[in-house]
Amino acid sequence: MTYNNVMPIATEIPNPFVFGQVLLPGRAFCPRPTLEAKVQSAADTCGRLVLLGDRRMGKSSLVEHTLDTPERVFVSIDLRGLVSIEDFIDRLLLKLEIALSAHKAFARHLPGALKDALAHLSEVKLSLHGVVELTAKPKAKASTVIRALETLERASRWRSLVVFFDEFQEIAESLPERDAQHLLGVLRAEIQRHERISYLFAGSARSTMLELFTAERSHFYQTAAPLEVGPIPHEDMGEFLIRQFARGGRELTTETLQAIFALAGESPNDQQQLAYHLWTQSTPGPLELKDLQRAVGILMAEVGRRAELILAEATPAQRRLLFAVAVRDSQETATDSFRRFAGFGTNSSVTAAVKPFLQGQQAVLEKRGSRVRYREPFLRLWMTLKLRQAPSLLPNAAPLLATGEHALFLPYLTEALKAQ
Ligand SMILES: Nc1ncnc2c1ncn2[C@@H]1O[C@H](COP(=O)(O)OP(=O)(O)O)[C@@H](O)[C@H]1O
Ligand SMILES: [Mg+2]
Repeated sequence: MTYNNVMPIATEIPNPFVFGQVLLPGRAFCPRPTLEAKVQSAADTCGRLVLLGDRRMGKSSLVEHTLDTPERVFVSIDLRGLVSIEDFIDRLLLKLEIALSAHKAFARHLPGALKDALAHLSEVKLSLHGVVELTAKPKAKASTVIRALETLERASRWRSLVVFFDEFQEIAESLPERDAQHLLGVLRAEIQRHERISYLFAGSARSTMLELFTAERSHFYQTAAPLEVGPIPHEDMGEFLIRQFARGGRELTTETLQAIFALAGESPNDQQQLAYHLWTQSTPGPLELKDLQRAVGILMAEVGRRAELILAEATPAQRRLLFAVAVRDSQETATDSFRRFAGFGTNSSVTAAVKPFLQGQQAVLEKRGSRVRYREPFLRLWMTLKLRQAPSLLPNAAPLLATGEHALFLPYLTEALKAQ
């Protein structure tokens, strides 16, 4: 066997990029030292913290990554899809049970307080299920919620707890008004008395969260300190991406890194999504333009399935609107210039066309003041791609697609344009 002087090629490791899910401990995580310190300190001092920020900015990951450690008893409750107060209690107790059992294994002799908490837990579960089974349409009594929270308090006598309610706005948005007010009222009153428990809340629906925690009449008025979770600074994210690619022997050049930021926008989720495809489309060595072009091609094909559906379900006027916003992103839509550009007769018809796309979990567009923009930069990019292939969908768009940021994106779109 002969050896030469060529640098050994790094063995292939699995794709390190993750998107669309919470980064649990063990996953590659771009450090966010200032935010991590605040989360840590809230947990250490039994504080209350509410994390605010757009979806996919990394709120859940920040909390889970920082606090889900073996030393802490961390109870993480995701309220997405919450249907009722019973459901709330069920989720709370289940997660408490999991957190406590994880620690039971370490303790050689169960301390009395823990035994007590565990006994109380099964008692509460029993009585809860009694309530649910006995009535056709389950209706939890206030006492059941209070008892569930009391179980938390009992457990905290054994060891201080960290409780994290994720997607907390679901209580206000998904439950009937009366149930929501009831649950929030009980929560607020009980939580105040829990001196050995840290409470963290996160939610993506900014207006509901702000309303819950800052409005004068709100139950949670001034109960928690707000923490803004915005984009990760380019410098930190850039370093993170370079390091991850380097682990697989891939060299991320400054230009390619800049292209990732330009194409993916501010969300670390979208940056990782593009990085994920760039990894699959490349081999060890310097990353080249053609790798990025292929990655964008695959990404656009992925986005395309949803985009085609959105267009198929839209009216012709709505389609013009979607294309117009894609070309003139973050523009005021209530202006004559936009109205003419998008081919509408009146401003109110523009407003009517925008409206359905702003609503619901699957909203395509979002409002920032009086400006309208795409929630996902890749969906927007796909719409411009479609327009390049079929200019008649919005004839006014062609000159704009040839200039400005659209011209800057063009070099990366060659594969995507071929594939469509
Ligand atoms: N610190 C981080 N470093 C790298 N990527 C991150 C980080 N935080 C979040 N992300 C990316 O964003 C995605 C969504 O994160 P998540 O915590 O679910 O956001 P949110 O809870 O704000 O909606 C993750 O799957 C990951 O791709
Ligand atoms: Mg989240």
